[in-house]
Amino acid sequence: MQADLILRRANLPNGARGVDMLIADGLIQVVGPQIEAEGRKEIDATDCLVTAPFVDCHFHMDATLSLGLPRLNRSGTLLEGITLWGELKPLLTADAVIERAMAYCDMAVAQGIQAIRSHVDICDDRLLGVEALLDVKARVAPYLDLQLVAFPQDGFYRAPKARENLLRALDLGVEVVGGIPHFERTMDEGRRSVVELCAIAAERGLMVDMHCDETDDPLSRHIETLAAETLKHGLEGRVAGSHLTSMHSMDAYYVSKLIPLIAEAEVAAIANPLVNMVIQGRHDRYPKRRGLTRIPELMDAGVVTAFGHDCVMDPWYNLGSGDMLDVAHMAVHAAQMTSRDDLHRCFAAITSEPARILGLEGYGVEPGCDANLVVLDAADPIEAIRLKAARLHVVRWGSVVATAPPRTARLDLEGRPAEIGFRARR
Ligand code: FE2
Repeated sequence: MQADLILRRANLPNGARGVDMLIADGLIQVVGPQIEAEGRKEIDATDCLVTAPFVDCHFHMDATLSLGLPRLNRSGTLLEGITLWGELKPLLTADAVIERAMAYCDMAVAQGIQAIRSHVDICDDRLLGVEALLDVKARVAPYLDLQLVAFPQDGFYRAPKARENLLRALDLGVEVVGGIPHFERTMDEGRRSVVELCAIAAERGLMVDMHCDETDDPLSRHIETLAAETLKHGLEGRVAGSHLTSMHSMDAYYVSKLIPLIAEAEVAAIANPLVNMVIQGRHDRYPKRRGLTRIPELMDAGVVTAFGHDCVMDPWYNLGSGDMLDVAHMAVHAAQMTSRDDLHRCFAAITSEPARILGLEGYGVEPGCDANLVVLDAADPIEAIRLKAARLHVVRWGSVVATAPPRTARLDLEGRPAEIGFRARR
């Protein structure tokens, strides 16, 4: 077989070491030791982890890279972020949204991301963000899978035309139903929004991904309704609860009933560690709560659990660089997941688990999978998280679409090496 590309002596996320990978026709054809063939192109991946791409299952691409427009978020809270976004929305133009989104996608691909689920605000009656991101989705399709969620940022019931706009967005091709029950005027309206939005998804055969309980209020329990409605409509495996930060503050007895319900309904959990570590707990003095859902407990219960980047340089978060290893690194610390098993689970939470949530087909590093890969300057998933390792090669359908040098530093110290790297010594 004529190989378009062969990766030599790679390590894989499952612990396999020193294997070759033969790629032809955009697919991984053979994985095994010392493949006897010559590729049109060969990459020496000795002692490097080769993984399927990073997947960001929670992002806001209509707002990305808008930091400072029209002003900065002074309090750092979610609510000021929403207010600020409301000030920016009428000033947006389609060209500017497209230009920023395309620039972010460049950054994301260079960081090894090849699939993003982005929420898009449908509360602007022009649906400017929707049309801009549908345009971006088509433009980036050769190198990035962009999945869009119709997101009623200002509240499904609070924003006068949200229902009408959401349905229009779905008609235009947005493929996931979003929601924000904790931002509705009352708990009851929040609950009813979940009920109505799940019914819309069931009727149209769509997936659901709701911003759910992104608050420190332990009585914000819309995830319970989301799980129950999932069961009622037979939507198991097609629904995700994003953020779920109120679970951090909930009573242990209630959680002991809630997590099995989430597992029974096969509702996935999406934590956003970078953003929620800075947005949550802002009303606390000391001790200050960590704004993260119960990640290891959800994983232990068999709930598909993944991490999203959520924001990069926008009204809610002024940092970020499209680096899912940065996201996992924060999760490891904030959720205290430092055991070797937990570190591997955190790596899965930015690769295989979000791929399941998005329903990506052909994802993986086995024969028959799409030849979408990242070669990392790290020997294994743990070293990848520790170093936020350089993405040496990003491969899409068998072609290299981005490269970066390994991270090294030059030293000028008497009696010490002239150049060092940061990998573990073996
Ligand atoms: Fe979000």
